Amino acid sequence: MMAQPFDLSGWSRVRLERVERALERWVTADVPQGLDHGAPAELVEAMRYAVLDGGKRLRPLLVMAAFEAVAGPGDSSGAEAALREGSEAALRAACAVELIHAYSLVHDDMPCMDNDVLRRGKPTVHVQFGEASALLAGDALQALAFELLTPTDGTVDPVVQARLCALLARAAGSAGMAGGQAIDLASVGQRLSEHQLREMHQAKTGALLQGSVVMGAQCGKPDATALRALDAYGAAIGLAFQVVDDILDVTADSATLGKTAGKDADNDKPTYVSLMGLERSRAYAQQLLAEALAALDGSGLPDTQALRGLADMVVNRAS
Ligand code: IPE
Ligand code: IPE
Ligand code: MG
Ligand code: MG
Ligand code: MG
Repeated sequence: MMAQPFDLSGWSRVRLERVERALERWVTADVPQGLDHGAPAELVEAMRYAVLDGGKRLRPLLVMAAFEAVAGPGDSSGAEAALREGSEAALRAACAVELIHAYSLVHDDMPCMDNDVLRRGKPTVHVQFGEASALLAGDALQALAFELLTPTDGTVDPVVQARLCALLARAAGSAGMAGGQAIDLASVGQRLSEHQLREMHQAKTGALLQGSVVMGAQCGKPDATALRALDAYGAAIGLAFQVVDDILDVTADSATLGKTAGKDADNDKPTYVSLMGLERSRAYAQQLLAEALAALDGSGLPDTQALRGLADMVVNRAS
């Protein structure tokens, strides 16, 4: 009998529902653990506006796919204890990376950075709530990400918690997203070498995608071969993601993207398209996809279909 083709959209739908429900519950004025007074309503409103109902949720899907590739496809219902604990950790990790991502977008759009007015099909957070609120909403989302990773109710092994916090901090910090954003701003109007551009993109965007994959894997206790392969897979798709973002900025329209098209040229940003042109950028993205799939081939993992589907989506997406 022929194997059924993998149904990525069906697979994603189930995971996205879980992530959406969890984000809705966690990004709230009822601080999950701690304060007996609620958070200021306007700050929470800006946080929810930044996070809820929007975005492709690619990073959470990568967390879940990597976890399942390592641990098997079980969900929390009726699974054995270790799987249940891993699944809870993976859901928290999935939401945490999305919170960091959402915060990075809020700050990326501010007038001191890319100065964008449209994000996820809506006015940007600073346009809607003012600059100070946007700054603070980003700060609070970053803090909430780490709060989600450190539940005190015994549901996640403290060793796994510490590992996830370290991975996320590294991906988001000065050697990762924030560092890459600093390079991005310092590079306006400059012509970067291919090496410099790759380093910038790996840091500002690649690190968080790669971190998502590795965090998901760590929730499932991977062996060294699988971990190395998933790390390489994450590096390849992480870079590919920003190459494609650069391409779409030129080739797609604002309605499709939900953000203003053509901003990179307007802001005089060095991008893959400005460095090597559209055709070579497209070919490079396909090369990175092939590298990601080859890494999975060497992972020793029995089922990597979701990770394969997501890699294909990263490179061949329209928005
Ligand atoms: C946009 O990321 C910012 C980059 C890192 C290039 P996404 O394209 O994943 O944005 P959303 O989450 O779908 O809005
Ligand atoms: C942003 O890159 C990467 C982040 C860390 C947010 P871009 O500035 O190209 O992202 P978009 O195109 O505004 O989404
Ligand atoms: Mg930017
Ligand atoms: Mg931007
Ligand atoms: Mg862009």
